[in-house]
Order: sequence, then C-alpha cells, then structure tokens
Amino acid sequence: MYVCICHGVTDTQIESAIDNGVETMKGLTQELNVGSQCGKCCQCTKRVLNRKLIQI
Ligand code: FES
Repeated sequence: MYVCICHGVTDTQIESAIDNGVETMKGLTQELNVGSQCGKCCQCTKRVLNRKLIQI
C-alpha cells in the first residue's frame, strides 16, 4: 500500500527501513523522503513505525 504519494513510498519499504535499523520518523524521512513534501503521510508513517517497533 502506498503511504507517501509524493515520493511513491509503500508500507513495505518503510518496514524494510525499520528492519534495517531506522527507528524514528526523522530517520525515515532521511532514508525514504516520507513526509518531506506535503506532510499528509506523516500520521500513517508513524502508525506503520509504531506497529513495527512493537513487533521487534
Ligand atoms: Fe508524503 Fe506528501 S504524501 S510528503
């Protein structure tokens, strides 16, 4: 599922970045550019991040 339309980033890509050690929203922005344009994806990205961190 696409989370960030501006940069074409999917939840799978976000989960992969977290698997590779990214643990913050800022880190995801640096790695994948999520949230760096219109910002509408920030809430959804944070949900994916929190869900994934709980599993780790
Ligand atoms: Fe992610 Fe616009 S949808 S920055």
